[in-house]
Amino acid sequence: MSELNGRVLAVANRKGGVGKTTTAITLAHGLARRIEAAGGRVLLVDFDPQGNVATSLKLESREHDLADLLLDRCTFRDCIISADRAGDGFPRPNLFVIPSSDSLAEAKSELMIRSAIGGRRATQIEDVLDEKLGFVRQLFDYTIIDCPPTLDIFSDAVYKLADEAIVPVKTDFLGEVGTARHTGDILSAQAYGIDIKIACILPTFFDQRLTIARSVLDTLEKHYGKAAIANPIPRSTVFEQAPAVNGQTILEYRPGSSSAEAYEQLVDRIYAL
Ligand SMILES: Nc1ncnc2c1ncn2[C@@H]1O[C@H](COP(=O)(O)OP(=O)(O)OP(=O)(O)O)[C@@H](O)[C@H]1O
Ligand SMILES: [Mg+2]
Repeated sequence: MSELNGRVLAVANRKGGVGKTTTAITLAHGLARRIEAAGGRVLLVDFDPQGNVATSLKLESREHDLADLLLDRCTFRDCIISADRAGDGFPRPNLFVIPSSDSLAEAKSELMIRSAIGGRRATQIEDVLDEKLGFVRQLFDYTIIDCPPTLDIFSDAVYKLADEAIVPVKTDFLGEVGTARHTGDILSAQAYGIDIKIACILPTFFDQRLTIARSVLDTLEKHYGKAAIANPIPRSTVFEQAPAVNGQTILEYRPGSSSAEAYEQLVDRIYAL
């Protein structure tokens, strides 16, 4: 295998609807474009049984997905789809996806049963993830994991697999509360020896005109330090339109818009790390 030593980033927040999937998809696409000329490749792994990644990018469904990989029903190669839709005018030659479906929930139960029977409850799921996905660092410059809005037996295993977490926070009151809990979870994972750090906190749905949005941003900066907070992503209806109009990312749907520019800044930040 090559000398490549890629980075694995999890986009995570146990609160639902904060922009995790939008961030995972846009960041993966932005990074892929950034490193295309140099021959780099990006993998986007959907760890959410809602399966929104492939749907949002309008990718053809495949016979196999992440659940099959984790349960030894297919090879790594069998469950990867190319996100390239050059035929529709959306060339993404170096972006790849491992999709999910609700069978991931079954896979989770199956893995839990196996680890309980095996008597190694604490480590086995982590070992499965490491065996099935650990080598992505040798194949892809960046692997972005879209996490579900839940905290369960998979979370610690995903944290163990990933090098860093990006935590999107919706800039409303509840967003702030959820994130304090989530970063608390990450810190306790670190206390258990899981080597994950927070790459950045990403304020999302930001509306400069709203006092609550400015106040949440302020609190986040005080709590985590200004350096840890990425530039906010504006609240905009274009984010809902982009996937609905022919499965585009915001970088394709509204290039140059303030929404696309905000995500380009996140790409810059992660690329520069
Ligand atoms: N900055 C934004 N402004 C307005 N709408 C947004 C923004 N970001 C995402 N959305 C929209 O909000 C909804 C939820 O976003 P998304 O699916 O990315 O959140 P999520 O955290 O992944 O949700 P879940 O927890 O269910 O997985 C989607 O319809 C998406 O298009
Ligand atoms: Mg999601």
